[in-house]
Amino acid sequence: MSFRLPTSQEKSAYVHNQFERIARRYDLTNDAISMGMHRAWKRAAVDALCCRGQGSYLDVCCGTGDLALRMAGRLGEGGRVTGLDFSRRMLEIARRRAQEASRRGQYRCAVDWVEGDAQALPFADSTFDGAIISFGLRNLTDLPGGIKEMARVVKPGGRVINLDVGHPTNPLFAPVFALYFRHVVPLVGELLQQDRLAYTYLPESASAFPPPEEVAEMFRQAGLTQVSHRNLAVGSVALHVGTKPS
Ligand SMILES: C[S@@+](CC[C@H](N)C(=O)[O-])C[C@H]1O[C@@H](n2cnc3c(N)ncnc32)[C@H](O)[C@@H]1O
Repeated sequence: MSFRLPTSQEKSAYVHNQFERIARRYDLTNDAISMGMHRAWKRAAVDALCCRGQGSYLDVCCGTGDLALRMAGRLGEGGRVTGLDFSRRMLEIARRRAQEASRRGQYRCAVDWVEGDAQALPFADSTFDGAIISFGLRNLTDLPGGIKEMARVVKPGGRVINLDVGHPTNPLFAPVFALYFRHVVPLVGELLQQDRLAYTYLPESASAFPPPEEVAEMFRQAGLTQVSHRNLAVGSVALHVGTKPS
């Protein structure tokens, strides 16, 4: 099957339609594709955000709320987590998961879900103590614009975190990863979601995503300082951290 990535004019509607289609079994497929490892990567990303106490934190492109709920579990009663996504179906699942987690006493802070665009965040400047985006940046039409938006809504001194695919360079691992991502992942998507196309977009969009050094430069261009990044899973995932200057 020949595959063409959407043009920048098509991208937003294309991505939106795709997540509406795969929302129901998104979590299951995520577990299968990453062999459960996405949990450890997300834990590392939330650790890097250093959320605590009564702070207010934003999860951009929150999907089914994985990161938002992890963040909520680390906050006290006066804290607040906001999850934002443009897919209503992903948000419906996030809401349901939040209700279950709250019933089980897994968090005590306030949690809000907002339907909106990551490239035009519906929040005032300097609203949050920190913001995070996980496997979302790659899907935006304007990557630097998305990072600038996160930097805008974070208070001075707050952190901006990005967790997304990397570009493995290890000569032994890189070809294995490429084979897995290009051939096995679409197959898993077809089996679990009956949607091979969405899981063909995943490796294609990953190879089009800039390498970690370029993403770090975008962080600096957005005015963030103390920018650092580290590789996880032999470079198949990269974690970026930046701080809004005080
Ligand atoms: C790969 S999922 C990641 C979900 C979650 N952060 C995680 O790590 O499991 C990407 C999410 O980004 C959302 N998304 C993509 N582009 C967006 C945009 N422009 N504004 C808001 N959400 C967007 C999609 O709807 C989807 O839920």
